[in-house]
Amino acid sequence: MKILLLGGKGQLGQTISKVLDKKFDLKILTNLKDDQNYCDISNKQSIIKIFEEFSPEVVINAAAFTDVERSEIYRDKANQVNNLSLEEISNQCLKKNSTLIHFSTDYVYGGNTKGFNSETDIAYPINYYGVTKLNGEKKIVRSNCKFIILRLSWVYSSYKKNNFVLKIIEKIKRKDNITITNNEIGSITSTHFIAKKIEKILFFLEDKNVSVKEIFNLCPSLPSNRVEIVNTLINRLIKDNKKNHLMKGKVYMSKNVNNSYLAKRPINSKMNTSKFSSYFNEKIESWEEDLENFIITNNINV
Ligand SMILES: NC(=O)c1ccc[n+]([C@@H]2O[C@H](COP(=O)([O-])OP(=O)(O)OC[C@H]3O[C@@H](n4cnc5c(N)ncnc54)[C@H](OP(=O)(O)O)[C@@H]3O)[C@@H](O)[C@H]2O)c1
Repeated sequence: MKILLLGGKGQLGQTISKVLDKKFDLKILTNLKDDQNYCDISNKQSIIKIFEEFSPEVVINAAAFTDVERSEIYRDKANQVNNLSLEEISNQCLKKNSTLIHFSTDYVYGGNTKGFNSETDIAYPINYYGVTKLNGEKKIVRSNCKFIILRLSWVYSSYKKNNFVLKIIEKIKRKDNITITNNEIGSITSTHFIAKKIEKILFFLEDKNVSVKEIFNLCPSLPSNRVEIVNTLINRLIKDNKKNHLMKGKVYMSKNVNNSYLAKRPINSKMNTSKFSSYFNEKIESWEEDLENFIITNNINV
């Protein structure tokens, strides 16, 4: 199966490259200007050229403008990458009969409800990043190409230093105080968890030879608030190792996430993933299992 990966140097792009390597005919494009596989997804001519040269059966788009705060300031740039670029990418997918696997976000949900957000709920983003991601989804859906849109949440990896999990691990290591909010609920999701689900989707597409045009929520099960996540990390990395004395910093809770940021954050990012698990017949692991796997495979200790 010929697969084109856009955004190959992002945290998810790098993990997908690693997981799919040697299992598929994979062409990886990056936005590093001196790379021979450079491709700016907002440049229509570059997109047309790569589709002509490679004729992918599947396109995985891991390229995006992902800085939620800077999206409020650099609105044109965020809109260009997350929304307008999808016009040509999905047109080319339609023309070449390729399936587009694209990533969206829990931030398309407003997060004011109590229960789990479902794909059938009306999306009403409360920050500009969420608006651009939702508009990008709409461009794909309207293009009539084959697509699988995965709405992800709270993504982390060892590749990107400013994700929530790595920032907390660093603070634990440095014995710094930790300040977190106690009112956001969601699921931290490792890029490895997502990449393994992509692998499963690709095998599914190969086996069943079906046309899919669906949006799915995708994150580990059993969501929690940030306090539980921090406590789990502290217990796992310090207390379990009988290094109690190493935890010198204190954990502080700032009451409301929306006191701290320019871009508003949804309070409730819990996502119902039953559509994904039944469609692909796939077990969804808990965020604790996913985190434990991340700690072991990356040999993380303090
Ligand atoms: N991170 C999260 O918590 C989170 C949560 C929900 C959903 N998602 C979604 O998951 C996907 C993957 O995110 P990620 O966490 O892997 O983000 P990431 O690490 O920021 O990766 C995105 C990559 O796209 C590149 N890029 C930006 N503009 C581009 C352009 N015009 N052409 C080509 N590449 C471009 C970025 O380069 P630069 O770094 O040089 O800008 C970066 O390498 C995105 O669609 C994101 O919206 C992420």
